[in-house]
Amino acid sequence: MSLAPTDAPALYDPATYVKGVPYDYYRWLRDNDPVAHLDHPTYSNGYWVVTRHADVQKVSRDASTFRNAPDPFVDDGIMGGGEGAGTSELMISLDAPEHIKLRKIVNKGFTPRRVAELSDRLRARTDAIIDELADRDGCDLVHDLALWLPLHVIADMVGVPEEDRAQVFDWTEKTFGFDASVTPEERGQATMDMFMYADAMCAERETNPSDDLMSVLLHAEVDGEQLTRFQIEVFFMLLQNAGSETTRNLITTGTLALLEHPDQMAIVANDFDTLPTAIEELLRFTTPVVHFTRTANVDTELGGKKISAGERVLMVYAAANRDERAFENPDSIDVLRNPNDHVAFGAGGPHFCLGANLARLEGRIMFEQILSRFEGLRVDGDPADFPRVHSNLIDGFSELPITWDRILPAR
Ligand code: HEM
Repeated sequence: MSLAPTDAPALYDPATYVKGVPYDYYRWLRDNDPVAHLDHPTYSNGYWVVTRHADVQKVSRDASTFRNAPDPFVDDGIMGGGEGAGTSELMISLDAPEHIKLRKIVNKGFTPRRVAELSDRLRARTDAIIDELADRDGCDLVHDLALWLPLHVIADMVGVPEEDRAQVFDWTEKTFGFDASVTPEERGQATMDMFMYADAMCAERETNPSDDLMSVLLHAEVDGEQLTRFQIEVFFMLLQNAGSETTRNLITTGTLALLEHPDQMAIVANDFDTLPTAIEELLRFTTPVVHFTRTANVDTELGGKKISAGERVLMVYAAANRDERAFENPDSIDVLRNPNDHVAFGAGGPHFCLGANLARLEGRIMFEQILSRFEGLRVDGDPADFPRVHSNLIDGFSELPITWDRILPAR
């Protein structure tokens, strides 16, 4: 085993990701210390970092040994800080049997039929977002284009009326956006306001049910049990977060990846039937959710290392998605790669991304429109200089300037 690089980045620290995901260090870990025991400022026994595809799958699929409670977020190293602070009520922080019960109910809102029904509305929404840009010759891909579709899709599903959306989107950005200029007080206030809004929506749907997700969740039953209003409100918050930041980054980083690989972009642009496989490859290559943790429930063993009950295990999806043992030429994009056993939506197990099919549909419609309506699309500047989100969970850009020659009308 070669020595760890002396400048090995701290994988829990959001500052590490400001210049991009540390793929070189991941490669070193996969080759030299695939189940690494590393120091952490707030986990007294340190934490385990798992970087090979097969090992990440083992941890993710063994939910009785590796639990999501108290939360699956890696602490950012500041006591009480990080994405995990105060998230133990979220579905992603629960284990069986509570998780299974909750998941069975919310699955009713995400059936393939319900997702497919959104398709026409999504197409019209995407056209409208691009039409807004028709008189311009440049914009910020993140704020002017990519973030709107995922925000509207959740709002459409849940049933947020059009007139409330600007307000709800503002709260979402403040609560979950990785904008360093938002103070903790503003974040706290936005969370509270959004929670109160969800409460008022629940109250309204209790008396006037419609066919939106909020009404489905309020009235759904599994084994004679219903969700409480509190559970629905917490789920509303999780959806805003899980569904918007992630998909936005697939769109932005995915578009950048295509622009940087014109041969791959041409394959997709010439045949939109390749989009489903291309999107799986963009998910693998960009990996918008970098990692999640689990906590060992009992003493166990992985890759010859002894992991004690109570210790945290970081499953690095971004490292598993570049594992040479699982993918040929993992650092290259191949939009026709098939099979593609990527772990961008999780590596299997009970918490596999609830919105995977919705994200795929959003990606399909967005990439189709971007590739067919923008003529002469290019990045405006050096991507190495563009700011990235300040997060130790999500990877993406917080700004990505683009320009174009012409926008074609919607077909
Ligand atoms: C490109 C977009 C997306 C990516 C990369 C992504 C990724 C992930 C990952 C890695 C997990 C954890 C899986 C695990 O622990 O096994 C997850 C869970 C989840 N995702 Fe997504 N996601 C995306 C889009 C969405 C969308 C659009 C929604 C909803 C509208 C959504 C809702 C959820 C929820 C509710 C969970 C928690 C599921 C549970 O705990 O059972 N995600 N996602």
